Amino acid sequence: MLNLTGKNALVTGIANNRSIAWGIAQQLHKAGANLGVTYLPDEKGRFEKKVKELVEPLAPSIFLPCNVQDDAQIAATFEAIGQQWGKLDILIHCLAFAGKDALSGDFSNVSRADFTQALEISTYSLTQLAGAAKPLMTEGGSIVTLTYLGGVKVIPNYNVMGIAKAGLEMSVRYLAAELGPNNIRVNAISAGPIRTLASSAVGGILDMIHHVEEVAPLRRTVTQMEVGNAAAFLCSDLSSGVTGQVLYVDAGYEIMGM
Ligand SMILES: NC(=O)c1ccc[n+]([C@@H]2O[C@H](COP(=O)([O-])OP(=O)(O)OC[C@H]3O[C@@H](n4cnc5c(N)ncnc54)[C@H](O)[C@@H]3O)[C@@H](O)[C@H]2O)c1
Repeated sequence: MLNLTGKNALVTGIANNRSIAWGIAQQLHKAGANLGVTYLPDEKGRFEKKVKELVEPLAPSIFLPCNVQDDAQIAATFEAIGQQWGKLDILIHCLAFAGKDALSGDFSNVSRADFTQALEISTYSLTQLAGAAKPLMTEGGSIVTLTYLGGVKVIPNYNVMGIAKAGLEMSVRYLAAELGPNNIRVNAISAGPIRTLASSAVGGILDMIHHVEEVAPLRRTVTQMEVGNAAAFLCSDLSSGVTGQVLYVDAGYEIMGM
């Protein structure tokens, strides 16, 4: 029943083989989706090379740079989708950033620059990409973003990213309400802690993972592929009645009080 054949899916946020977006891309591909992949460009082209090699087996038909702080790159990405695909069915928003200084110590020390940057990249970008996707989702669609419990409850060192994720989860609800009449669904997956490039910037991430392994009902944390499975569900007709939700894929950790 989980068949995404004929669906065009844009996946953002692949940096390497540990990325959650990489787990999602593999599962969407397995379900038959035609993939487009964007990467964060850097001056030396390192990300481009690395991501290109990684995603080659999934044969993405679109592969473009897209820094979400660059309006021109966003416009070029969606223009290419319009020209090459005609329509978009799935948008995976799987990116975030905050300066390392803002991810440890006292939250009240966060600078205006770090605060603004974290919310621009990690929160505003969902709304911006969803707005660009809307006119291309002519047959309805599914938008999925990635969040974390630190946007709902206080997690040591998550600090400004918690504020960003709280805003992201509320953005999901406002976008779901706006886009629902177009049959575009918008949901978030709240993943348990996983070792990735982004999470390694959060102070004490390994302690967080060990704590989850001790306390979560399943006595472990989750894998990128498990998050990918949930994303494939949220992008398929199996979840056709679900929008505006945050789905916890965290081995059950969120239900625990102690
Ligand atoms: N790893 C975890 O424990 C965890 C848990 C819950 C939620 N998440 C969320 O999952 C998402 C993916 O993170 P990840 O853990 O896979 O780490 P990751 O480092 O593999 O992915 C983060 C991605 O964000 C991209 N990015 C950063 N700034 C960007 C910009 N300006 N424009 C475009 N892309 C940009 C990076 O290139 C990278 O691909 C993030 O939203 C993160 O907050 C992660």
